[in-house]
Amino acid sequence: MASDLSPMGLQMGGHAGADLAIAVSRAGGLGQIGAVFDMVELANHLSKVDSALPRHNDLLPVGVGLLPFIVKMDEALPVLEKYRPAVVWLFAAKELEDYARCTEQIRKVTPGSQIWVQIGSVAAALAIAEQCKPDALCVQGIDAGGHGFEKGAGIVSLLPEVSDALAAAGYGSIPLLASGGITEGRGAAAAFALGAQGVVMGTRFLSAPETQLHPIYRKAILAAKDGGQNTVRAKLFDELRGPNIWPLPYDGRSIVTESFTEHADGAAIGEIRRLHAEAGKAEDGGYGLDGKGRTAMWAGTGVGLIKSEQPAAEIVEEVRRQVIEVLERTRSRL
Ligand SMILES: Cc1cc2nc3c(=O)[nH]c(=O)nc-3n(C[C@H](O)[C@H](O)[C@H](O)COP(=O)(O)O)c2cc1C
Repeated sequence: MASDLSPMGLQMGGHAGADLAIAVSRAGGLGQIGAVFDMVELANHLSKVDSALPRHNDLLPVGVGLLPFIVKMDEALPVLEKYRPAVVWLFAAKELEDYARCTEQIRKVTPGSQIWVQIGSVAAALAIAEQCKPDALCVQGIDAGGHGFEKGAGIVSLLPEVSDALAAAGYGSIPLLASGGITEGRGAAAAFALGAQGVVMGTRFLSAPETQLHPIYRKAILAAKDGGQNTVRAKLFDELRGPNIWPLPYDGRSIVTESFTEHADGAAIGEIRRLHAEAGKAEDGGYGLDGKGRTAMWAGTGVGLIKSEQPAAEIVEEVRRQVIEVLERTRSRL
């Protein structure tokens, strides 16, 4: 169903709920409910979507993110069976084989739903293609905001290499989506030129009022410039509340915070955790601007391209329009 796929989607756990998913899907993108730990919360989001959007081929026109390393499948499966989302998005398994187990279970309860898996390497793309036969793979580059792969590459080199390797192994028909640093039309057009059939944007939607976000976090997103300098990938962000529960290959990209700066200067993790917990109790939630604040503020390197708060539908429409303009302008320059 590649031709039915929206060319634009998003995925952000804890921030992308029903309101954002509805707005994005209504505008012609694919809205997604980001991974949540509580399946009652997921059911509430999906119920809201079900009341707001017509089903398409009996499927809810949104995606649902699951984190295989932590999701309790016995709780998730009945929710997926009941609501039948168009897409189930998998990211972060302890072992690559876990994707195959999840995929099999999901396909049993909701055979019409597509399975999309987000990967960050050629090896993972090949293994998952073979073991899961996913309906699409999302190639995540190192610029991505939020959780991603500690060892990675930008999509400029990663996406074509994944594409070539899949084609050589007989999996060339699996559609590829691109994510990581795509914030507006120029990045999206570049991803399409690389061979992507769709783009996934997270950070850009942090500027949308439909996204659940602390107001200071949103201000920090709008204020941040020069994303390569003022965001950073680190495991520290998963160690702030206690020992890191994420599997070894993962870390996350956040705006640089005081927690990170002190960690880089050699402060002890116990003290960083204590100050983080204390800051989190304050009215500002530990969020801050200009390198201040102690709570992680997930954001990709494209954050400096975000100029203002903007409704999600406008973002979808604007980026779509820009992609066509950029590609036409580029062609006329050749
Ligand atoms: C705030 C935030 C939360 C995220 N949460 C998730 C998540 O729960 N599951 C997931 O697969 N990816 C998550 N991601 C990563 C996205 O899937 C995607 O790879 C990333 O947003 C793309 O890069 P960009 O942020 O530069 O657009 C998150 C990203 C952000 C910014």
